[in-house]
Amino acid sequence: MISIIGAGRVGSFSAFNILRMGIADITLVDVRDGLAAGEAFDLTQSSSAIEADGKINGTAKISDIEGSDLVIVTAGVPREPGMSRTELLEHNTGIVSGLMTDVAKYAPSCKIMMVTNPVDVMTYLAYIKSGFERNRVFGMGGILDTLRYRSHIGLELNLSMEDIGGLVVGEHDGHMIPLVEYTTVSGIPLRRLLDEQTIAHIVERTRSRRSYASLKGGTVYAPAAAIAAMTEAVLRGRNQVTTASVVPGGEYGLRDIAIGLPIVLGENGVERILELPLDDATMRSLTESAKIIKSAIEGISLSPH
Ligand code: NAI
Repeated sequence: MISIIGAGRVGSFSAFNILRMGIADITLVDVRDGLAAGEAFDLTQSSSAIEADGKINGTAKISDIEGSDLVIVTAGVPREPGMSRTELLEHNTGIVSGLMTDVAKYAPSCKIMMVTNPVDVMTYLAYIKSGFERNRVFGMGGILDTLRYRSHIGLELNLSMEDIGGLVVGEHDGHMIPLVEYTTVSGIPLRRLLDEQTIAHIVERTRSRRSYASLKGGTVYAPAAAIAAMTEAVLRGRNQVTTASVVPGGEYGLRDIAIGLPIVLGENGVERILELPLDDATMRSLTESAKIIKSAIEGISLSPH
């Protein structure tokens, strides 16, 4: 059984994907009275049409997460137009801090997947507040950035996006870093197919994710697909190479933060962090990205309750 805390746009559509893929039974939790129960009814009624027989329970009681193998946290506010980064940080820090006490109490053996933004800071907060080991706490960010990167490459080349392999590391925001040297199309290095100027343009479009969000007030389908893919990797022990926000223990010279890095995702959560050789410019960008996350972490309260 898994739980999704936050039955808003991203949480409810993630539940639909997980149900449709037959990955696990789901407990959907939301503080808004009746919202999770309503979503659960709606999702259950879709089951026979999508040939899914997973069970879904909607509740406002956080204690119902008891027994979860994985807890996905989408509770919080998205960044609305006019909302500063600091306001978003303060608001979601309060929500996530409170929730982590409950997660540690009711599902002490679970893995935690953070989605609430800013996801790198929230992942580190969840790691500290839950008291869980590093492998059990990770955030969804890099896999979504990678989906976006792959989609821009696929559209540019007019080739199937499925055949594109790539990784995006760093902060899940304007300082993300698509790893061009590790990007391939069915094994063919991207640089054999596109010139540097076109690649630079693709990298820039991947980074300017605000523009997607501002068109519709927050994205849903791509994040929900990324959440379902990560859930499947954990619940089915797929040992998938992907990127996620994780707490490094010295890899890439980083510690005491959470940041997007290449990992192997499996039944224990983060099975290992892959330490790939990076060129000097990419390493500098990663260090810069880490500094930005670190300064945001320094601005929030990490003290235990
Ligand atoms: P939403 O506003 O539709 O849903 C959030 C839900 O959380 C609401 O239903 C609210 O009632 C609930 N909630 C708030 N406090 C709660 C608590 N203490 N316990 C249980 N439920 C609680 O927002 P949306 O669009 O679903 O986004 C959710 C979060 O995910 C935002 O922070 C957003 O920025 C983030 N996000 C992160 C992405 C990523 O790549 N990491 C991608 C997309 C969204």
